[in-house]
Amino acid sequence: MAQNPPYKICFVPKSKEEKEEDEKNYKRYSEIVATTFPTAEGWFDVPIYQCQGFWYSFEMAGVGPLAFQDHFKARPSDILLASIPKCGTTWLKSLAFSIMNRKSHPPSALQQHPLLKFNSHDLVPVMEMMLYNNNLNGNRIPNLDILPSPRLFGTHIPYTSLPQSIALSGSRIIYICRNTKDNLVSWWHFINKLRLKNSLEPMKVEEAFKMFCKGTSSYGPFWEHVLGYWKASLEKPQSVLFLKYDELVIEPALHLKRIAKFMGCPFSSMEDKEGVVDQIIKLCSFENLSNLEVNQTGICDVGIPNNAFFRKGKVGDSANYLSPEMLEQLDHITKEKLHGSGLML
Ligand code: A3P
Repeated sequence: MAQNPPYKICFVPKSKEEKEEDEKNYKRYSEIVATTFPTAEGWFDVPIYQCQGFWYSFEMAGVGPLAFQDHFKARPSDILLASIPKCGTTWLKSLAFSIMNRKSHPPSALQQHPLLKFNSHDLVPVMEMMLYNNNLNGNRIPNLDILPSPRLFGTHIPYTSLPQSIALSGSRIIYICRNTKDNLVSWWHFINKLRLKNSLEPMKVEEAFKMFCKGTSSYGPFWEHVLGYWKASLEKPQSVLFLKYDELVIEPALHLKRIAKFMGCPFSSMEDKEGVVDQIIKLCSFENLSNLEVNQTGICDVGIPNNAFFRKGKVGDSANYLSPEMLEQLDHITKEKLHGSGLML
């Protein structure tokens, strides 16, 4: 399906001076990454780098995390959907987009809805990967000022590395996480899909397990990522909503209403009666989205086939892939890492 993702409009033409300034900035970020950041063996055939305690793929994000940190100007009305990859980002983006745009795009108008034409990552771009990523943007800082409010963005950046303007402006953040074991297994399958696409041998589950426990999975360490947002949600519940994929699967309507209220657009009792909540749940269901042509055959901007974002959508599938010892070890690490935080995964 050859279409331009809507956020492409952020790459407006720039003057010669502006272009030079952007190029200078990206050159500086690349030098910082190349000369001062630790590296480790990556998930593909290129090393990963560590920035402020978390691991990033140069192939997937370039030096986007640094550019995002320096250049993003948040608005109080912004809503940021945050996650560590493979925790249900694709689903959360579909739900939040449908909630926010339900007046202009009613979920009942099933033939017209943007989610039928675009994968949710193309409707709600991951800032550091799709907008600020120099591998994709030709070293041009995007102009997000042209977007109308409220703006909806995604990010995988850990809480402590977010641009300062997000906390200062009071933008709202919705974070989704998932139980550790399913996150690892989902990440391992995802990496192998991409390795296959790049003609690389599949990674063994033991290898993925080792990297995950060491913290060198995508945007890892997993536990520190989750804890950063968890603590922020306790300190500033009006600014950070903390969700669990596993709970969303069990009670989607309850959490959809929480999300809508947090976003500042709660469902009216009339909407509830008319079945809008159920329509959104159905529109964004794994069964519906994964079977759409765009998600079976399309490719999102970072070059990832859309079908890689849909696998099983089940809770507990990790038990089919991890040995009892691995499951036990992950439970043990999770318990230790989250000890005293009040969070259970
Ligand atoms: P599994 O690999 O366990 O199936 P992310 O979107 O953060 O990359 O996470 C991907 C995980 O969310 C995958 O989990 C995927 O199948 C699941 N997923 C994607 N869309 C979903 C949806 N609409 N409903 C429920 N789960 C979904």
